[in-house]
Amino acid sequence: MTLSEQSIEDAKSHALAAIAAADSLEALKEVRLQHAGDKSPIARANQQLGSLSPEERATFGKIIGQAKGQVAAALEAQTKVLEAQRDARVLIEERVDVSIAARRTPKGGLHPLTILTNEICDLFLGMGYRVAEGPELEAEWLNFDALNIPADHPARTMQDTFFIEPLDSHLVLRTHTSPVQVRTMLEEEPPIYVICPGRTYRADELDATHTPVFSQVEGLVIDKGITMADLKGTLDHFARSIFGPDVKTRLRSSFFPFTEPSAEVDFYFNGRWIEWGGCGMVNPKVLVACGIDPDVYSGFAFGMGLERTLMVRHGITDMHDIVEGDLRFTQSFGTGVK
Ligand code: FA5
Ligand code: MG
Repeated sequence: MTLSEQSIEDAKSHALAAIAAADSLEALKEVRLQHAGDKSPIARANQQLGSLSPEERATFGKIIGQAKGQVAAALEAQTKVLEAQRDARVLIEERVDVSIAARRTPKGGLHPLTILTNEICDLFLGMGYRVAEGPELEAEWLNFDALNIPADHPARTMQDTFFIEPLDSHLVLRTHTSPVQVRTMLEEEPPIYVICPGRTYRADELDATHTPVFSQVEGLVIDKGITMADLKGTLDHFARSIFGPDVKTRLRSSFFPFTEPSAEVDFYFNGRWIEWGGCGMVNPKVLVACGIDPDVYSGFAFGMGLERTLMVRHGITDMHDIVEGDLRFTQSFGTGVK
């Protein structure tokens, strides 16, 4: 560019027009680079001053200086305008409406079955028991053989038990919590006082009183001098704390391969006897299979269904309500999602 008053005037008016046209701070930044940066026409004119005569340098120096000053002032003014516009926009866009109702995050609640399980564990922990757990996918040997349930026992047939393929894996979905007895006796030396809640599986249809996936709670005590009276006393205490202080229990002679003698335990509630679960003195054959000397130790075991316990205590007439996960059921216990 040859230096002339006109060329500087043109550069300045281009710059001022571009500044006026910039409609955002980003656009203005670009304009500043083009018209006020080191490579802008006015800056290049300024660089040419050195090659001029002293008089010309004075004249053009003044014109260029004034042009630079006007461009800088215009940039500053436009920056203020655009900043004010941006601030006004942010105020509107990011406005918080304090009158809008707050979104409530739903709070989870425990299922009544979980609450019952916790209640039972607390009760037995208070009596010095420990909570023991075992896997739901269980070795056939622990679920049956070690409990003295022979291969031809009806509980082992395909109708009751979910066998896992391949069949030679010898794994089953545990049909009761009793394998936890065996696991505990194999791992620990007596005295043993454990309570074992857990999920169990049987090939039963879902109906008003059965579900293929249900819950049991197992109790096991092995110590010196344990008798059936200890079992009865423990069951009485258990029943009274779950169903109320007036509840009575009775033992009815029964058969389980892993207890001898065996009994069904019933309780008297709301004017009738209700079957609660199975129990008995641990069969000496089971003690031997678990490496415990039956001449030194004896013990008792019991196992109850938790869904049926919950049904009786709360007058629930249909098992579907417990297993189907309808929140209205849980909420009727006052513990649902709120
Ligand atoms: C047993 O499972 C024994 N292991 C109990 C036991 C433990 C006896 C320790 C002796 C010593 P039984 O098959 O009767 O026993 O089942 C116990 C309870 O589980 C039943 O009384 C019932 O409350 C519950 N139950 C069984 N099948 C189902 C089912 N399909 N749905 C819901 N509850 C069930
Ligand atoms: Mg039974």
